[in-house]
Amino acid sequence: MSSPVLSVIVPCYNERPNVAPMVAALDAALAGIAWEVIYVDDNSPDGTAQEVRRLAHQDSRIRCIRRIGRRGLASAVIEGALSSSADYVAVIDGDMQHDETRLPAMLAALRTGQYDLAVASRHVAGGDNAGLSGRWRHALSDGGIRLAQTFLPVRLSDPMSGFFMLPRPLFEDLARNLNGQGFKILVDLVLSSRRALRVKEIPARFRERAAGESKMDVLVMIQFAGLLLDKVFGGMLPLRFFSFALVGALGVLVHLSVLGLLHSTTPLGFGRDQTVATIVAMAFNFQLNNAVTYRDQQLKGPRLWRGLLLFMAVCGFGAIANIGIARVLYEQKTAWSIAGGIGAVIGVVWNYAVSATLVWRA
Ligand code: GDD
Ligand code: MN
Repeated sequence: MSSPVLSVIVPCYNERPNVAPMVAALDAALAGIAWEVIYVDDNSPDGTAQEVRRLAHQDSRIRCIRRIGRRGLASAVIEGALSSSADYVAVIDGDMQHDETRLPAMLAALRTGQYDLAVASRHVAGGDNAGLSGRWRHALSDGGIRLAQTFLPVRLSDPMSGFFMLPRPLFEDLARNLNGQGFKILVDLVLSSRRALRVKEIPARFRERAAGESKMDVLVMIQFAGLLLDKVFGGMLPLRFFSFALVGALGVLVHLSVLGLLHSTTPLGFGRDQTVATIVAMAFNFQLNNAVTYRDQQLKGPRLWRGLLLFMAVCGFGAIANIGIARVLYEQKTAWSIAGGIGAVIGVVWNYAVSATLVWRA
């Protein structure tokens, strides 16, 4: 088989029942075009990868990348697109909600050479978003659109779309700047380009999900906000640092709440109350960082407990450094608020840098 003109990248998690119908729909929609489909599965427990491979034995245009120990729609798309040798790459959801019949029109638009990016939009004349379930999803999607549009250098009516196409060489150029976290890889791509991309919007309907359920959740939204922060401020500090520092601040509240619950009489001293409050706060911070900050490489099973102990040791040293530096500065007549602030910043940078290396190996 000659090299395909188009690679269709499908990020998937628990999409087994949708694989065969989707491949059949792609075959019908892309008649006359040399295409391949690359499923990027994050070790779905429902056997999505096995189903893709069953079909791949019958049709060499079907490929599967199975990722173990990594999760995330955007990073899956990046790995899938970077495994392509085609002239163009398209990204589409694996649940049949995107209208695959729009792919030829997207390819034709790019082949004119007048556009860098073809995006299937629900929010241009002829598009519709009926398949998005529930009012709160519509509200969230509209809110996400408005938020993204404030940062985008080009006008996109549907920046939340996960259905778009671009020349593979352009994807490769942009790939090194991508954040790669969360769901919104299109926003990541547009914000990673040093020039304003020329965009062609193709009207498309967003159908009801064929089977299974959406993986969109609150954590994905936090990641979306973090993606925008990263793109706007990321040159100074990585996105994860913001998340880690925010979790640390929440941990302080947990620490103080535990002291309050224990009716501690020695809030600033060292004693049983402090020890209990510190252990609870550290365990809270570890769990939240593992779920949010390091969601794409979460520790599980025995590695989780080993990580917790390591995290506590790292933060124990961080606390000693924090208090020690604050005390030295205070004794040198620095105002206690400034001494405490400097100690806290050094503590959080230490905790972030060392736990990123030792605990999550990011
Ligand atoms: N590999 C991998 N890893 N795939 C994932 C993951 C993951 O962690 N999470 C979701 N996916 C896959 C799903 O299997 C599906 O094929 C696609 O990504 C979209 O996920 P949904 O859970 O169906 O998202 P949605 O229905 O809420 O759709 C919203 O997000 C999509 C992605 O940005 C809408 O905004 C869509 O327009 C958008 O395409
Ligand atoms: Mn969906």
